[in-house]
Amino acid sequence: MEMHQNITFRDSLIHGTGGFATRDIAAGSQVVEYVGRKIGKQESLRQCELENPYIFTLDDEFDLDGNVDWNPARLLNHSCAPNCEAQEEAGRIWIVALRDIRAGEELTFNYNYDLTDYREHPCRCGAANCVGYILAEEFFPELQERG
Ligand SMILES: C[S@@+](CC[C@H](N)C(=O)[O-])C[C@H]1O[C@@H](n2cnc3c(N)ncnc32)[C@H](O)[C@@H]1O
Ligand SMILES: [Zn+2]
Repeated sequence: MEMHQNITFRDSLIHGTGGFATRDIAAGSQVVEYVGRKIGKQESLRQCELENPYIFTLDDEFDLDGNVDWNPARLLNHSCAPNCEAQEEAGRIWIVALRDIRAGEELTFNYNYDLTDYREHPCRCGAANCVGYILAEEFFPELQERG
């Protein structure tokens, strides 16, 4: 059975394909699980060198390679003003609504990239506060200082 009735996937103005809410979603709801292959840091590094954009940090020992067709959450785009965030719960990653979301809105989360090579990841999220690069919110002030 299709387990993602609250999301549909179609062309996004941000990039390529994105995930969109098919119905209103309440703040705090688990929208979709971010699933994938559980991999060690060495394999994770290898995947990052191969520019696999679907690597997700799980903990100090393991990462998740979400580059599998059974992970629909891989299609969610990044935004500087996201309506969802990734949360870890009991060793699983969930995409959780940060606020009430209306049917039809694109579902986004912050990819939480660090400042390494940030210029290689321009952001086209379209948010009023877009900082221009795909970057974790904690680095926004540093980027703004750099001008
Ligand atoms: C995990 S995929 C997301 C799904 C993607 N839209 C697709 O069609 O495959 C991640 C890639 O999507 C693109 N992307 C996601 N959010 C973006 C954003 N806010 N601005 C520009 N590109 C974005 C980047 O190329 C990134 O490497
Ligand atoms: Zn942005």
